[in-house]
Amino acid sequence: MCDAGFETVKFVFPAGEKSKNVPTLLSLLNFMAGGRITRDSTVFALGGGVVGDLAGLAASLYMRGVGLVQLPTTLLAAVDSSVGGKTAVDLPAGKNLMGAFYQPDLVICDTDTLGTLPDSEFSNGCAEVIKYAFISDASILDMLDGSRIDELISRCVAIKRDIVTADEHDRGERQLLNFGHTFGHAIEKCSGYTIPHGSAVAAGMVIMATAAVNKGLCDTISLELLKTALRSCGLPVETHYSEAELFDTIQSDKKRSSDRITLVVPRRVGLCELTEVTLDIAREFLRLGMGGL
Ligand code: GLY
Repeated sequence: MCDAGFETVKFVFPAGEKSKNVPTLLSLLNFMAGGRITRDSTVFALGGGVVGDLAGLAASLYMRGVGLVQLPTTLLAAVDSSVGGKTAVDLPAGKNLMGAFYQPDLVICDTDTLGTLPDSEFSNGCAEVIKYAFISDASILDMLDGSRIDELISRCVAIKRDIVTADEHDRGERQLLNFGHTFGHAIEKCSGYTIPHGSAVAAGMVIMATAAVNKGLCDTISLELLKTALRSCGLPVETHYSEAELFDTIQSDKKRSSDRITLVVPRRVGLCELTEVTLDIAREFLRLGMGGL
């Protein structure tokens, strides 16, 4: 960029969800203010989901909004967080509680960067890939070996593009992208964000699918396909947290409005439905989901 005549400054912070908070956001904003960043500057978010979410929020806030380019370097960021304009940091009360919808001007995904990461980071992203298979396109399950990575990412992004185009602000259909996330976010928070997002969402999807089977809403084969797919990617299919621990955490989940919560219920691989329920019913899903078949 310097060779092309652009002036650049670089802000680097420790990797991981523990950095996705208000102190890091303020450090970044102060850095931008002290670094001659002007209204016609552009923030380039080079990294995984934490970088994209935090830099995206800073771009939305600084001078009421500067340019934003997402450069995802993890599978999770490539298929999910770099696309769709959700930016956020976590608050002590919960994940992503402080955020904004702020669309990037551009997303550039260079899949060569994925090769620089440990296998565990690829697994983390596979949870979101498997999510797309369950909410939209079962055939994605045949691509989990990663041999057709460009096509895999393109197909996941196309599904997300269509959903976000229909419901940018998450009032309806976009909530399908939260399959496994209500219980998954609770697992992440219970662990103090030491359990990676993908592992937490993996366990969250199994809890929800098990509950759906127990309620007669989903077939057992789909649940088994889910577990097989997760295991093949080295992802967990259960959590050691108790129903009570997870439920306490869910009560502060951002998706709760008054005493109701929207759950994403799988009907079969490739089809999920949104169901708005009371917290009591959400707890019943949790109990049925953690109790086995
Ligand atoms: N990651 C879920 C969404 O973008 O809506």
